[in-house]
Amino acid sequence: MKIAVIGTGYVGLVTAAGLAEFGHQVIGTDKIVDKIEKISEGIAPIYEPGLDKLLKKNLGKGNLRFTPALDTTIQSCDVIFVCVGTPQDEEGRADMSQIEEVSRRIAENLDSYKVVVEKSTVPVQTSMWIKRIISRYKKSEASFDMASNPEFLREGSAVADFLSPDRIIIGVETERARELLVKIYEKFRDRLIITNIDTAELIKHASNSFLAMKISYVNLIANICEKTDADVDQVSAGMGLDPRIGSQFLRAGLGYGGSCFPKDIKALAKIGEDLGVDMSLLKEADRINVGRMRVFIDKIKRALWILKDKKIALLGLAFKPETDDIREAASIRIIRELLREGSTLRLYDPQAMNNMKEIFGPDPDRLEYCASAYEAVRGVNALLLITEWEEFRTLDLKKVKGLMANPIIVDGRNIFKPEEVRGLGFEYYSVGRK
Ligand code: UGA
Repeated sequence: MKIAVIGTGYVGLVTAAGLAEFGHQVIGTDKIVDKIEKISEGIAPIYEPGLDKLLKKNLGKGNLRFTPALDTTIQSCDVIFVCVGTPQDEEGRADMSQIEEVSRRIAENLDSYKVVVEKSTVPVQTSMWIKRIISRYKKSEASFDMASNPEFLREGSAVADFLSPDRIIIGVETERARELLVKIYEKFRDRLIITNIDTAELIKHASNSFLAMKISYVNLIANICEKTDADVDQVSAGMGLDPRIGSQFLRAGLGYGGSCFPKDIKALAKIGEDLGVDMSLLKEADRINVGRMRVFIDKIKRALWILKDKKIALLGLAFKPETDDIREAASIRIIRELLREGSTLRLYDPQAMNNMKEIFGPDPDRLEYCASAYEAVRGVNALLLITEWEEFRTLDLKKVKGLMANPIIVDGRNIFKPEEVRGLGFEYYSVGRK
């Protein structure tokens, strides 16, 4: 069986390398030629632990290759995974133009039976549209089937998530497609959930929105904790022991970012509304998330009063640790707001500096990119913790204090223990804790 993977973003690249690792013949394709050249040498264009190694291994074995030639890739494969982007449009809906374009190309090159699998996160009923487009534009008598196989990998642990998934959702409408998909995931027979296509599509959006809601919920509780003597970390720990709730995704902080949750919760709200369903629950969760930035800025103001001309260090720019991805990262909104207030910023992140430079170029008077966390805190009036990278947890805080002009920490991710940092002489503000 030969498999095509169209789109080599996070999902496509990991899918291509992962399917090759399972022993399949895989061709990955993307319209960005530079990217394909780099990937063909085994260099992932994104920072993702273990990905370069997996690419190199399977490129070396000869069962994985990459090419910009979309037409011949479609013609030569039996199963086509569609992994192109579904970004958000101005109204919060998923922009399906890339999916539509790929559907037409599949139609034009459909020369034998193929299964077209959507792997990108798409609104429920997308497959029906892809099917209509392929049927409309196809030039041969060859037949095809649609399938949905949503991806649940997390950035930062994407390779591990793909190679040992907790479930694999397969949405199909024919026995022939079912057999092919089951064969691809043979290894994980015990973890296969087979449904119809609408159900598979909805499982993905419903899962991401639920997790986003869980985070907004704990952030709401954190707001109550800040006005009382309660401690949000202990509240989360206490709640999480109930197996019906579970302890994951109950970390209060700066809210969810990244390319998935903010987009998916809005998209599902739109889908529901378009279908006539009241989606206030999801809209409220999203509103709480957007409000996290204000809560954080107010905290900085409580510490510093006036932000104009204050020198502030930001540690962590990526939307979460172990990635260089800054899409929808809390850091961007915070930087924008602090610059608007007139502060001078010193930034550091272990992986995301280059990406951030594309949004905020260095400015000798207002914004400096620093070589280390210690460099960033030199002479600052306050230190902000934005992303909980492991290296920040193990900072030598005595040294940090010695370098800062004023020993003030505003911790957006609760990475330090209040009594410890205060014991060292810091003024310390965190989330949902005294
Ligand atoms: C998320 C899902 O977890 C994946 O299952 C899914 O496949 C993926 O979206 C996707 O749709 O492609 P990801 O965006 O990589 O994965 O990141 P998460 O680890 O889920 O974190 C999302 C955001 O929530 C981050 O900004 C993180 O800092 C925040 N978060 C997470 C919290 O604020 N509190 C928590 O307790 C957990």
